Amino acid sequence: MAPLPRLLLAVALLHAAAASAATDDGEGGRRRARYDRVFSFGDSLTDTGNALHLSSTGAGPASRPPYGETFFRRPTGRASDGRLVVDFIVEALGVPHPTPYLAGKAAADFRRGANFAVGGATALDLHFFESRGLTPFVPVSLDNQTSWFKNVLHLLGSVEEQRKITSTSLFLVGEIGVNDYFVSALGRNRTVGEVKTFVPRVVAAVGSVITDVIAAGARTVVVPGMIPLGCEPQLLAHYKGGAGTGEYDPESGCLTRLNDLAELHNRELRRMLSGLRRAHPGTAVVYADLYRAVTDLVVSPAKYGFRSRPLAACCGGGGGAYNFNDAAFCGAAGTAACADPSEYVSWDGVHFTEAANRRIACAVLEGSHSHGAADEPALSNSWATTEAWRRRIGCV
Ligand SMILES: *[C@@H]1O[C@H](CO)[C@@H](O)[C@H](O)[C@H]1NC(C)=O
Ligand SMILES: *[C@@H]1O[C@H](CO)[C@@H](O)[C@H](O)[C@H]1NC(C)=O
Repeated sequence: MAPLPRLLLAVALLHAAAASAATDDGEGGRRRARYDRVFSFGDSLTDTGNALHLSSTGAGPASRPPYGETFFRRPTGRASDGRLVVDFIVEALGVPHPTPYLAGKAAADFRRGANFAVGGATALDLHFFESRGLTPFVPVSLDNQTSWFKNVLHLLGSVEEQRKITSTSLFLVGEIGVNDYFVSALGRNRTVGEVKTFVPRVVAAVGSVITDVIAAGARTVVVPGMIPLGCEPQLLAHYKGGAGTGEYDPESGCLTRLNDLAELHNRELRRMLSGLRRAHPGTAVVYADLYRAVTDLVVSPAKYGFRSRPLAACCGGGGGAYNFNDAAFCGAAGTAACADPSEYVSWDGVHFTEAANRRIACAVLEGSHSHGAADEPALSNSWATTEAWRRRIGCV
């Protein structure tokens, strides 16, 4: 599992500027880069409290029990029974939890990092959807999150001080795009074919955030790709038995047409990232393969400790293969959570359980899952992940 020492050394050198300190990680005295904080962008898979502060979503499901029951023992705005992937990543790195942007005010709140992700957020802006007769779930796109990031930079002081902070931070850009494809469009009966035409714009919006954070001094940017949409209990229930829903993948039981959409997104995302790496050789731009991480859990649940049906939601009403019904969403009257969420991959049919989020974080922190296509240069495609980080969150 451990990378070759020479590769590790090369990675460490590449990250020399990013490393606030090269420290002994307790594994034979090797040196590694260290990050001081995390800045993150995204949607409900990453939101640790922003949507709570918006009038349109403040009273949403994640503001009520049983959300948060496993780890925080109270709802925190996270769309899970416990921690999200970003929580596990900051715990692995040993850095503070970034302040949700809408919960912070002063520079002191953001010196420990900031999380701009909002549940329901889209990559594309309101205008894009309105011009197609669509209404996003929340009035927050990557444009908003980028301007919030710029507000935070200004709060942090002079350009020199800003760069001192950005160069020693880990940036997480994504996952983002699920809501562009689903909430805003497929949920309104648009065809997968029409939604596919959004992909280049969604990917360009992600690229524009990455370009902005690199311009602000980022040296390591991790970009989680699209999850396998066709494995989401909500979408499986929505398309069940309907005309033209396409076929099911025999191995996973997921909807192939929706997974094809996610794969198309990821192909275009990776191509865009290759271009950014060429343009910015001083920054590690890392693709994190969430698609593969989640597919692994769905195809081999027992291997990862999931004992129940991997395509059924733990919480909510509906029963059946997917245990999902929009009218009986997790937390609504008459619904209940399963006895042991750690046996399930899906928490509420849309979002993952804490147990699944831990496994996904482990995959993000594991070289083999973060590695890109063969044509991508190995070094700028890597980051200085260590076994110690993975051990800290129980991956190994
Ligand atoms: C996001 O930006 C749009 C366009 O500037 C604006 O209308 C909207 O209110 C912003 N959303 C939030 C939550 O600030
Ligand atoms: C989508 O189509 C179905 C069947 O034609 C219809 O019952 C449903 O109301 C439509 N949903 C929306 C949001 O338009």
